[in-house]
Amino acid sequence: MQKINHNNLPQHVAITMDGNGRWAKEKGMLRNFGHRNGVSAVKESVEIAAEIGIKYLTLYAFSTENWNRPKKEISALMNLLVSAIKKEVSTLMNNNIRLTTIGDLTELPHIAQKNLNEAKERTKNNTGMNLILALSYSGRWEILNAIKKIIKNKINIEELNDLLFQQYLETKNVPDPELLIRTSGEKRISNFLLWQIAYSELYFTDKLWPDFTKNDFKKAIIDYQRRERRFGLTTNQI
Ligand code: IPE
Ligand code: IPE
Ligand code: MG
Repeated sequence: MQKINHNNLPQHVAITMDGNGRWAKEKGMLRNFGHRNGVSAVKESVEIAAEIGIKYLTLYAFSTENWNRPKKEISALMNLLVSAIKKEVSTLMNNNIRLTTIGDLTELPHIAQKNLNEAKERTKNNTGMNLILALSYSGRWEILNAIKKIIKNKINIEELNDLLFQQYLETKNVPDPELLIRTSGEKRISNFLLWQIAYSELYFTDKLWPDFTKNDFKKAIIDYQRRERRFGLTTNQI
C-alpha cells in the first residue's frame, strides 16, 4: 500500500457524487434508497478529507438540471439534505469544519435554506477544513451570473482579467480544485465548476457513490500524486 505524501496534497478536492440511483436499482430498490445510503458516503469523505488535511472539499449535491427530475425524487433529496444538516452540524463543530455553499439557494425549499443558513452561521468561525456544498448549482449559471454582476458594476474592459473575474464567481477566495473526482463510471463534467477546473486533474472511478469509501478517497489522492502537472510547460521546465 502506497502512502499519501503530505507534502503534495491537493488544497481543494471536488467530488461529483454520482450513481445513487443505479446503486439502488442493482439492489432492486427505489432510487431514494440510493440517496439515503449516499449520505453515509458523504460522511466518510468529509471525515477522511479533514483527517488527511485537505483545506477545501466541494461536493456536487444537486445541479440546476436536477430540478427536472420527478417531483417526488426532488422532495426526497431536499428532505435528506435538511435531516443530514440538522444531524451533522455538531460533527462539523467537533471537527472544526466550516460549511459554506455555492449555487442558487433561493431555489431551495424555505426549510432547507433556513437549516443551511443556521449551519453556516454556527460553523463560520471554524478554522479547519472548508466544506462547500454545491446546491442548485451549475457552472454556466455561475459564469452568467458573474457576467451580469460585472456589467452591473460597470467594470472597465481593460480591468477585466482572470483574477478579477474569479472575484465574481461563487468560489471567490477559494483556490481552484487540483483534483476532481467523479464516481459511477460516467466520464463527464455535467456543468460542474466549469471555470475552476481549467487545470484540474480528473479522476474517474466505477464505484457507485454509496460504495465510495475512505480508502477510495485515499486512492484518488495517491493517483493524483503520481501525475505530472505541466500547465502548458515541458517536463524539463518543471
Ligand atoms: C447522484 O446520483 C445524486 C444526485 C445527482 C442528486 P444519481 O441520482 O444521479 O444516480 P444515477 O446516476 O441515476 O445512478
Ligand atoms: C451530476 O450528476 C450532478 C450531481 C452529482 C449532483 P447527474 O447524475 O445529474 O449527471 P448526468 O445527468 O449523469 O450528467
Ligand atoms: Mg447520476
